[in-house]
Amino acid sequence: MKAALVVGARPNFMKVSPLMRELRRRGKAETLLVHTGQHYDENMSKIFFQDLQLPEPDIYLGVGSGSHAEQTAKVMVAFAIIMEKQRPDLIIVVGDVNSTLSCSLVGAKMRIPVAHVEAGLRSFDLDMPEEINRMVTDILSRFCFTTSPEAEVNLKREGVGEDRIFFVGNIMIDSLLYYLEKTERSTILEELGLTPGNYILVTLHRPSNVDDPDELRALFEVLNSLATRLPVVFPVHPRTRKMIDSAVPPIVSAADFRLIEPVGYLDFIKAMRHSRMVITDSGGIQEETTVLGIPCLTVRNNTERPITVEMGTNVLVGTDPREVEREASRILQSDPGKHDVPPLWDGKTAGRIADILERYFS
Ligand code: UD1
Ligand code: UDP
Repeated sequence: MKAALVVGARPNFMKVSPLMRELRRRGKAETLLVHTGQHYDENMSKIFFQDLQLPEPDIYLGVGSGSHAEQTAKVMVAFAIIMEKQRPDLIIVVGDVNSTLSCSLVGAKMRIPVAHVEAGLRSFDLDMPEEINRMVTDILSRFCFTTSPEAEVNLKREGVGEDRIFFVGNIMIDSLLYYLEKTERSTILEELGLTPGNYILVTLHRPSNVDDPDELRALFEVLNSLATRLPVVFPVHPRTRKMIDSAVPPIVSAADFRLIEPVGYLDFIKAMRHSRMVITDSGGIQEETTVLGIPCLTVRNNTERPITVEMGTNVLVGTDPREVEREASRILQSDPGKHDVPPLWDGKTAGRIADILERYFS
């Protein structure tokens, strides 16, 4: 089997790394790692190759930023040329970013089977570009590898046949568990002067939260207020950075509110694991906090990952700043409650995927 594996944006690297490692370890598949270049800053891309021991990409498409149409089309054009030359037996895409959509479309039209890792997640909110990417990718995929039982229900509702659905667990958690011990060597807490269990970690990058300056400012007021109680650390995504830089008046007033650059995987996991609470709108971070048992406030009105709420650590708080502050205060005053880990979030997902693919291609 010759498999092309696609990465493009930050949340893709931790999903492809375990599969790449597993396929190479077994030695039965030829791999072609394609980086679309959707994310390109050193700390949004290169650092993850080091931290996650990913080999250098075989092909770098270098598409960069742009409108949805522009970015999707640029990836398609560049990826199709490579696929024409390479003619793999399989294209493996992960997650729900524009690169995922583009490459699955190319595969489907060239009649190269597509495998989608993290299939079947639905927020039922078409205002999220990711929801469109997820739906189209799933409908085109020969293999829909799912992370949780409700994904199968979602896929079947949309007409995906049972023979295309495989419940394999959460590959992002393969990376988390594989690197957890190593993350302890990170010195990020010392560098930032943070005490374990005594700070809040924040990430926000969804257009619905950061693209409107008024909403962003209102959320920052809450974070400033929380930072008078304990340190707040916020590694700022480039989309959010652009908005912060153009927002007046100054957006940080509390002394212990630190805006820092995005950090690498090992540093981020260490900072997350030892935080008192995480406030985020990230998809992947809802899952990682679930496994680590860290209280997570998700600043969104819906989640495509409801299992993280059912397991006990994730609270879908909405986007009203007063609610965010109220819920954050409640969490700070209570002990972290009981939490469970979803089935098959056990670090062995890449092995299950490789087994299925080996069986199919042999
Ligand atoms: C993308 C994904 C989103 C995912 C997020 C993870 C889509 C539609 N969105 O959102 O699902 O949660 O990545 O981080 O695919 N920029 C830089 N440097 C970079 C990358 C981006 O400066 O290395 C800036 C550019 O100004 C760009 C903006 O960030 O226009 C947004 O980047 P883009 O990849 O379009 O979307 P994200 O918001 O990163
Ligand atoms: N992450 C990281 N550094 C950061 C912020 C996040 O390494 O500064 C990791 C995080 O642990 C998770 C992934 O990036 O593994 C999530 O990516 P992101 O939030 O950008 O995307 P989403 O999951 O929302 O699509």
